[in-house]
Amino acid sequence: MEDTLNFINQKTNGFVPEIGIILGSGLGEFADEHCDFAINYSEIPNFLKSTVQGHKGRLVFAEISGRKVVMMQGRNHFYEGHSMQEITYPVKVMKKLGVKTLILTNAAGGVNKNFKPSDLMIITDHINYMGANPLIGPNDLELGERFPDMSEIYKKELIAVADRCAENLGIKLQHGVYFASSGPSYETPAEIKMAGIIGADAVGMSTVPEAIVANYCGIKVLGISCISNLAAGVEGAQKLSHAEVIETTNAVKSRFKSLLQEIIKNI
Ligand code: HPA
Repeated sequence: MEDTLNFINQKTNGFVPEIGIILGSGLGEFADEHCDFAINYSEIPNFLKSTVQGHKGRLVFAEISGRKVVMMQGRNHFYEGHSMQEITYPVKVMKKLGVKTLILTNAAGGVNKNFKPSDLMIITDHINYMGANPLIGPNDLELGERFPDMSEIYKKELIAVADRCAENLGIKLQHGVYFASSGPSYETPAEIKMAGIIGADAVGMSTVPEAIVANYCGIKVLGISCISNLAAGVEGAQKLSHAEVIETTNAVKSRFKSLLQEIIKNI
């Protein structure tokens, strides 16, 4: 951690970000449009490189609407074969850099029958179905406690800000529970049926590890999903493909980007 922080601080001249953002599929452009300076993950000691297509792999620093922001342009996923601890390391780095609020974004399949592709959903809570937890292993009491409370990871005050911003912009928001599966295969219709029965509204392969670690180390979390497709077996769903996910996130990105900008201004 010391090596990582020394390297970043030397590159950023002591820039202290208060807001962190992890940009999901289709949102990478937001970091291109707001980039004061950037560091490739491949240069940063102990960082993983980004490998998923469409994800760039840089830490981008910018002042947006007067707020100091650090963005992950591209994230690592559990399904790539990295450990939960590895994929969440950047969240601990953000904490050490000074981040107080983390905005997590992703693409997700719609489980709730009232959702349609291109909807934006505020994450109100999650179900961790990944079969692993990023906090397993020795605990660093300096970062957080052994058994962290998770009663309100996705802070109501931040959800209220997002709702107000969406209203100002005339954007309709859904709210719901995000169900995380490990991937990389999409879910079966039986799994999606189960997810719906146990309370899920959307399903995806990211976000939950980062949210658990952020909450653990005292960072407030706001989560936003772009519903990119109907989940497997949901009435009207087609055969799932990454191409559909990319197509929808591309179509939604300008709305998503303006919402993000408005939220940063109002947090
Ligand atoms: N399932 C899991 N992850 C996803 C999906 C889905 O349907 N859509 C986008 N990411």
